[in-house]
Parts: sequence; C-alpha cells; structure tokens
Amino acid sequence: MHTVEPIRWTPEGVVMLDQRRLPREVVYHTYTDYREVAKAIQDMVIRGAPAIGVAAAMGIAIGVERSSAETLDALRAEFGTICDTLARTRPTAVDLFWAIERFGRRFAELALAAEKNSAGARGVARLKALLVEEAKKVHQERQDADREIGRFGAELMPKSGRVMTQCNAGALATAGIGTALGVIRVAVETGHSIEVLVPETRPYLQGARLTAWELHQDHIPLTLITDNMVGHFLKTGGVGAVVVGADRIARNGDTANKIGTYGMAVLAREHNIPFYVAAPISTLDLSIGSGEEIPIEERSEEEVTHLAGMPISPEVRAAHPAFDVTPARFITAIVTERGVARPPFETSLRELSAHS
Ligand code: MRU
Repeated sequence: MHTVEPIRWTPEGVVMLDQRRLPREVVYHTYTDYREVAKAIQDMVIRGAPAIGVAAAMGIAIGVERSSAETLDALRAEFGTICDTLARTRPTAVDLFWAIERFGRRFAELALAAEKNSAGARGVARLKALLVEEAKKVHQERQDADREIGRFGAELMPKSGRVMTQCNAGALATAGIGTALGVIRVAVETGHSIEVLVPETRPYLQGARLTAWELHQDHIPLTLITDNMVGHFLKTGGVGAVVVGADRIARNGDTANKIGTYGMAVLAREHNIPFYVAAPISTLDLSIGSGEEIPIEERSEEEVTHLAGMPISPEVRAAHPAFDVTPARFITAIVTERGVARPPFETSLRELSAHS
C-alpha cells in the first residue's frame, strides 16, 4: 500500500506537502529557513501531532545546518533561538516539545564531545551534520512506530464492518502510515473487511479534506458523514470500534485530540462500542497528572464563521477550541508502538514508557 509523504528531508531543504490545499491540489514547498518551517507548522501546511514533531526536528536541523555560526558558542545561542521559535507555533501537540527536548539533549551531548576534543570549526561542522542525521532518525522512528501501532491495533479491529475515526490521524498527520489510519491500514492489509466512517471534522475539515482523500487514494472503503451524524451512526450504523489519534496523553490516560473526540467517546460508551486511542510514546506527557493541565489551542474565529473564505454566519462572536480532552474512563485502550495499554492507565502507560 503506497502512502502519501507529507514531509521529506532533501539536499535542497525541507519539502512539505501543503495540506491546506488538499484535496483540490497537490502542492509541495521547499523550506530552507527554520523560520519558514515554524510558520508552516503554525499555518497548518503540516499538522497532526507526530508530523509536527518531525517538522520541528527538521526545522531545527535546517536551522543549524544553514547557520553561519563558526564557533560552538555562537551555534549554541542560535540553537536556542531556533528552538524558541519552533516552540511558539502550536501549544497542544506534545510531540513538538518532545522533539525540541530531544534535540536539546543531543546538542548538549555533541557540544560536550566537541569541546573535549577541542575540535574548533571542524567540531561545529560535525555537530551540524549529526543534528541533520538526528532529524532523519526521528522521521524513520515515526515510520517504524506507526507500523508497530498498526500491528498491535489491527488485532483490536472487527473482522468486518464499520470503524469510526475523527480528524486525520493518517500518513498526513504522522509522516508514516498513520496512527489511527495505520491501525486501519494494517487491518485491511491483513484481511479485515472494513469500511471507515469519516466525520468531516468541522471547522477545519481534516476528515472531509484529508482523511477521505487519504483513504480514497488507498482504495479503503469509506463513507463521509457530517459531525452531527456521529451519534446516529454510533447508535444504528453497525460500528464495531472507534479509533482516533492523540495530541497529548496525560499520566492518567486523559487524552487531548481534535475537537469532537470527547463527544464521540461518550457516545461510543453509551452504545457499548470500544473506543481506542492510537498514538506513539512521544505523545505521552507523563509530566502532567491529568487532562486538566493540557493547554488547548484556540484558533481563529474566522475558521468557524467562514467556509472556504465565504461567510456562513452574520458577524457574531465565535469560539474555536481546536482540541478537547477525553477523560480516561471513556477509553478502552491506548495503542502504542510498545504494546496496548489498558486501564488503569497510570500503571500501564508508566510501564510502556519505561520499557524500550
Ligand atoms: O489541528 P490538527 O489537524 O493538527 O489536529 C490533528 C489531530 O487532532 C490528530 O488527531 C492528532 O494530532 C493525532 S495525528 C496522528
């Protein structure tokens, strides 16, 4: 099965598929400046928690690679500015901060080694090259993680029937085969006969524009529905499981994901349908005890009052929290690349994150 590539490291720069223009146009941009990468994350050229992590990794790498700093101290100062700029793009997806922290550790380790060897300009050049390698490694790890998540998750999918998802937790969102859609892809590859119910995911329409496009490209059967049909289909539509992605998972299992996920989880419980979250270990934030501590991104009102640039309401106030938090009690299991965590999540997530 061929999956789309939302981001790629090339000798010319960081190449990204412009997700804002899907499904109408397939357009790629090449970025050679970390500020452009930060803007691309902020403006939703690339989105989805794991893909934002990969973009941050490549943003740091391009910033360091193209830096004119010739001394370690100058590079260290610039590295700090690069990381701060990327950290200010989107607040909810923890993979962004995971990538920044990982690069912070790697930079410190490499700088120490360069200092010890008094490597001078050669040490700076080597450090730059190794941070580029680190970004490629992050990308590869996302791809490997998705495959494993898919393998564990596919076993939880019905042999035949319907599965519901939310937003886009596919290849476009992870730079691999997807988390939720990776589970569905592996299930289909291994002989499950699945149809996916895809809510459009207002206001940004990731379901209609991205998930429907991605599944259609892969010839996976789907039915597009509007968000207000979710309850109806969970009640009457023969849905065997719900599988969604995540932007940040707290220590107790509370999960932030695209707005609308919480309502879907409550309705799934009401109708005895298992509700699965599929996410890599990098989406766990074990530093916070519950979902109450997850920052929720507020996006522009215009994304609610307008559709494709056209006003659909009078000029009134609108609200646009981009994510909601599903309490852990509505989640049947959390599928990671290291295995399936079940309640109580406090214990199971700690165990999975400890073992590597
Ligand atoms: O605002 P977005 O499009 O970045 O939101 C994406 C989601 O909510 C996804 O479900 C989540 O990041 C998981 S992607 C594997």
